[in-house]
Amino acid sequence: MEIDSLKKEFQRFFPGKPQIFRAPGRVNLIGEHTDYNDGFVMPAAIDFHTWVALAPRSDSTVNIRSESFADTVSVDLKNSFAAAHTWSDYVFGVLDQIRRAGLPLTGADILIHGEVPMGAGLSSSAAIEVATGLAVLEAQHAGSLHAQSVDRTQLALLCQRAENEFVGMRCGIMDQFISCHGRRNHALMLDCRTLEFKLLPMPPEARMVICNTMVKHQHASGEYNQRRAACEEGVRILKQHLPSIRALRDVNLEQLDKYSDTIPGMVYRRCRHVITENDRVQQAASMLQAGDLKAFGILMGESHASLRDDYEVSCRELDIMVELANQQPGIYGARMTGGGFGGCTINLVAAARAENFRENVAAAYEQATGLKPQVFISSAADGASRVA
Ligand code: GLA
Repeated sequence: MEIDSLKKEFQRFFPGKPQIFRAPGRVNLIGEHTDYNDGFVMPAAIDFHTWVALAPRSDSTVNIRSESFADTVSVDLKNSFAAAHTWSDYVFGVLDQIRRAGLPLTGADILIHGEVPMGAGLSSSAAIEVATGLAVLEAQHAGSLHAQSVDRTQLALLCQRAENEFVGMRCGIMDQFISCHGRRNHALMLDCRTLEFKLLPMPPEARMVICNTMVKHQHASGEYNQRRAACEEGVRILKQHLPSIRALRDVNLEQLDKYSDTIPGMVYRRCRHVITENDRVQQAASMLQAGDLKAFGILMGESHASLRDDYEVSCRELDIMVELANQQPGIYGARMTGGGFGGCTINLVAAARAENFRENVAAAYEQATGLKPQVFISSAADGASRVA
């Protein structure tokens, strides 16, 4: 993105000189549907960003222009916000949470330019939330007490609440957290209960290759929230036997199996995915640190199978993309990434083979499905920032 062209675009719609901020999308290497079960995840930020140009106003109006939707919406901060079930909910949700947190909120002109593919499981929604939150908190409060004090973890939590309460998607913390805390050339191992994290260097001999099936997911349509409800049902039943547990994070496979008679089959399988996936993430972190990419890749394959068979969030196109990837030279591991029902796979591929991998998988996928995929070779990127 050319910063100058973003500024010019801003000035086509609004007066004043904007400040520029950006926040990245993400891939998740392993640890899917574990975040809202107090578990472990291992995402990395990617080099696709949502950009926000913002200039404060002296009145109480907020104007927001989305380039992707060629649409402008306005609100008076004296009024309350109502969800409109469109792109602007992500922005208003964040403004709403900033206000609820008791942080000062004044009028602003905002231009949003998104380059994270939408509906592709790369978390364009977290990128828009975090970029907006950072911009509003840093630019609007320049010179005030709050200017220096945008705590990244607080920002991630605020953006998650915006999505939970305003958009109505009961997502976990992973996407907003990595968009805030990502680090170039590192994956991030996060404990979603304590929010303690470790940055793990990505081995230079491997590349992350992201393959977009071009099948768009629709989380808000309810499948995601249903998965979450099934996990809660599992915890409710298991608590009768194991009163000290708070989340599936606290349960091991042996315990789940011991009480399997009391758990409906579907709920049992959802729980089994979460419990085994938490184990896999912890093993994967050790493997990455030991440089054992082969073992890491095997865990990615097991994760995909578990998401497909136990959690039932894969789809035919994701399964095909993973199968085709596994046939390529240089592949360490392949799996779906993100919430599922479409979107992208993440592949760990030997660096020297990545370019061939990209071409071969794209051609084979198109032949198998008739869909032309997007395939990106990506390195891990830094988290959200103000752009000088
Ligand atoms: C979506 C949610 C995340 C996480 C993943 C699945 O991306 O936003 O919180 O639950 O799905 O791992």
